[in-house]
Amino acid sequence: MAVTDLVVAITGASGSPYAIRLLEVLLRAGRTVHLVISPAATEVFDREIGRGVMLDPAHFDPVALLGPHAAGLNFDLLKYHNFRNFQAGIASGSFLTGGMVICPCSMGTIAAIAHGISENLIHRAADVHLKEKRKLIVVPRETPLGLVQLKNLVAIAEAGAVVLPAMPAFYTLPQSVGDMVDFVVSRVCDQLGVETGLAKRWGTPSQGS
Ligand SMILES: Cc1cc2nc3c(=O)[nH]c(=O)nc-3n(C[C@H](O)[C@H](O)[C@H](O)COP(=O)(O)O)c2cc1C
Repeated sequence: MAVTDLVVAITGASGSPYAIRLLEVLLRAGRTVHLVISPAATEVFDREIGRGVMLDPAHFDPVALLGPHAAGLNFDLLKYHNFRNFQAGIASGSFLTGGMVICPCSMGTIAAIAHGISENLIHRAADVHLKEKRKLIVVPRETPLGLVQLKNLVAIAEAGAVVLPAMPAFYTLPQSVGDMVDFVVSRVCDQLGVETGLAKRWGTPSQGS
């Protein structure tokens, strides 16, 4: 049975542009996305993008979240869940998904996942993806990394998560911040098995080598 629903969580690490672009490309690819946002993420989002995000489902506005990236998107595909809503389907292993990505992923959320502390819906859904042996991709952004953080990353990698740090490359000769964002987003989409056309692939004519 091919399940195409994906879970996207946004937490309070720096990197809001990655989250916005990821949501945009997944929705443009026609994927149903279950979205959860942590309170800390709204603070970072406000600082980095200059737009507020309302976490209350009654006031959640995808256009406010995505801004200019919202143009032409089908928001019927976007299922928003409050971070405290453990009644959401994605809190249970019986709700089938094609995978989950936490982008960006704070070291606090990494720690919660590493230690099985399902304090909010993001931690719980991540726990579920690991126990069900489904794809869980985390996109951390922190530097330098301390020993506790490194051990937590090893713990979740050993449990099956893909650790995909927000590390744009320069060999692709990016011309803009958007190019650097797309590099990371395309690597996430490769992991999810979503073809976006964003990737410049080494060893192919588009990459020139
Ligand atoms: C502006 C701002 C930037 C932050 N950047 C990072 C970051 O890059 N990485 C990180 O792990 N935490 C970062 N933090 C701290 C987290 O937001 C904080 O640890 C929070 O408790 C994480 O909660 P969450 O995992 O539930 O989102 C940042 C906080 C603020 C206000």
